[in-house]
Amino acid sequence: MSSQDFSSLPKNLDPTRLPSHIAIIMDGNGRWATRRGLPRFAGHRKGANALKELLRCCKDWGIPTLTAYAFSTENWNRPRSEVQFLMNLFEQLLCHELAEMQREGVKITFIGDVSSLSASLRQEMQRTVQETACNSAVHLNVAINYGSRHELVTACRQLAQQVQQGTLDASDIDASRLEEQLYTAGMPDPDLLIRTSGEMRLSNYLLWQMAYTELYFTDVLFPDFDRSMLHDALVQYQNRDRRFGKIALTVPQTLVNAVSN
Ligand code: IPE
Ligand code: IPE
Ligand code: MG
Repeated sequence: MSSQDFSSLPKNLDPTRLPSHIAIIMDGNGRWATRRGLPRFAGHRKGANALKELLRCCKDWGIPTLTAYAFSTENWNRPRSEVQFLMNLFEQLLCHELAEMQREGVKITFIGDVSSLSASLRQEMQRTVQETACNSAVHLNVAINYGSRHELVTACRQLAQQVQQGTLDASDIDASRLEEQLYTAGMPDPDLLIRTSGEMRLSNYLLWQMAYTELYFTDVLFPDFDRSMLHDALVQYQNRDRRFGKIALTVPQTLVNAVSN
């Protein structure tokens, strides 16, 4: 472990070039538990603590938005007991952590299809959104029953309905019209994606929104992800050259001219 003090932004990070929005795939809870001879549930509990710490760190370091993948549309295919445990955990967390989130100025929102969640969970989610709406210290956006394909299909269907009703001309459909129909409407795209546990895939997460996101993969299992690991991700992020299809600023113009002549 590093002996560096991580309570405030580490000196080797440029505060003017931090990501405005981090998306995280909190993966590896089950393996964390299994490796310790514990039931998978224990890993999910520990993962919830890691998320709290990560959020606190975003707040301390001036990263305004964190979108965390809590449950995918594919996670329903897990054993019933695990799905039930996760749903209960979400509800408990919302109920027990709300006061602290308020104290810390956390604004909480959700993305995903709420229609298949239980009425009691939906109620807690709604209460949380309403009660934290005016907070501005940091924004936690939680993806529950989220899947990009479902999100995009729903958006297409909504646009098609508007065309059918005559309120939208098909030729007016463009990227921003489509974005207006996504769960993330009005939010900036993630600048940085972090996925823990060594898996190098997106698992149906924010596929549209991450068209130009920098991807960072680490072998660390999510319950072990701490400030020093966020620091490592941010160091790498600040070393990336985000070109967005343009030419690197560091390429000398003479070289560019030579190639194009
Ligand atoms: C991520 O950890 C949490 C959720 C998907 C809810 P996993 O439960 O996927 O943990 P592993 O990948 O099996 O170790
Ligand atoms: C992605 O992790 C979903 C969440 C972290 C909530 P999974 O563990 O479900 O992803 P796969 O199945 O390994 O792709
Ligand atoms: Mg997993």
